[in-house]
Amino acid sequence: MSRAAVLAGLGAYVPPRTVTNDDLAATMVTSDSWIRTRTGIRERHWADTGTTTGDLAAVAGQRALKSAGVDSVDLVVLATSTPNQPMPATAPEVAEALGLGTVAAYDISAACAGFLYALSVAAGAIAAGVADRVLAIGADLWSTRLNPEDRAVSVIFGDGAGAAVVRAGDADEPGALLGFDLGSDGAHRELARVPGDGSRELSTGDPRRPEDRYMVMQGKDMFTHAVNRMAGSSEQLLGKIGWTAADVDWCAAHQANVRILHTVADVLEVDRARMLVHLDRVGNTSAASIPLALTDAALDGRLKAGDRVLMTAFGGGLSWASAAVRWPELAVLDI
Ligand code: UT7
Repeated sequence: MSRAAVLAGLGAYVPPRTVTNDDLAATMVTSDSWIRTRTGIRERHWADTGTTTGDLAAVAGQRALKSAGVDSVDLVVLATSTPNQPMPATAPEVAEALGLGTVAAYDISAACAGFLYALSVAAGAIAAGVADRVLAIGADLWSTRLNPEDRAVSVIFGDGAGAAVVRAGDADEPGALLGFDLGSDGAHRELARVPGDGSRELSTGDPRRPEDRYMVMQGKDMFTHAVNRMAGSSEQLLGKIGWTAADVDWCAAHQANVRILHTVADVLEVDRARMLVHLDRVGNTSAASIPLALTDAALDGRLKAGDRVLMTAFGGGLSWASAAVRWPELAVLDI
């Protein structure tokens, strides 16, 4: 039997403060009805002043460790595009907060596809014998990088974190990660980005503009790419692992917009009812969205041991990724 990476624990967290569509409509020109019909979002959670991405990641990580029934790992991989600071990475701080000692810990950046990239890194480290047990986290705190003048972007993002414990095991046991499809297209990097804080801006010597710390996004183009890339990547992966669309019990796709989820379902010919929808309560939580949606579905009993789960994500970069798993028995804590 080959050495495989097996999902052994899952945890997720959103900060307590709920921001409804009506709350947003009180501060910008928008409405509950526009946001609901164009995105499917009813509310999201935004962190209070002083809370960091690392804080969110640590709570989700703690819950994933508890779910797996373990208190140590060999590696912590944190996917985030909103780290606590440009340097050092946030993962060592999270490992320290979790009492994981001097464990290897680093960040990766793949925007909203980050969690699936972190899972692939975990699977690779396990396959290479670098680690026997990995904590893979996706966490983002975008609320402090939303331009209040940009209503199309500001209404869709929420803060959150999700984490998985992945351990070495056998390819035929429940929870084994069955395959990955990963891709990127830097030619379209302008479609979603934070212009400031990086070497591109700093190297020009141009004076910093305060608004450069905000995310800018070309929503319509991102919508089209999101559909094409998540559907295309899912098809690639299904072919690779020998599943058809009819085999998919649940599809956990990146939660950006319910219209994207429905269109991906239609392209893949997966019943729309098989798409996990969690964005109505948390918005687009970027790298956290897939583990949050999985945790939500595990908590309410939709996800059952043995279910065949397709995961697919898309975000700035452009970056996209898909992965598949046959759902294991998992005890999951409340979000
Ligand atoms: O997570 C990474 C990947 N990201 C995505 O996949 C995001 C994909 N994109 C989207 O989900 C959608 O493009 C958005 C939700 C971001 C925007 O929805 P849209 O239907 O593409 O709207 P739009 O930006 O084309 O704007 C249409 C109209 C405009 O008005 P006019 O010019 O037609 O009069 C906007 O000014 O809607 C207006 N609008 C709003 N109205 C009320 C834009 N945002 C708002 C708003 N409230 N919040």
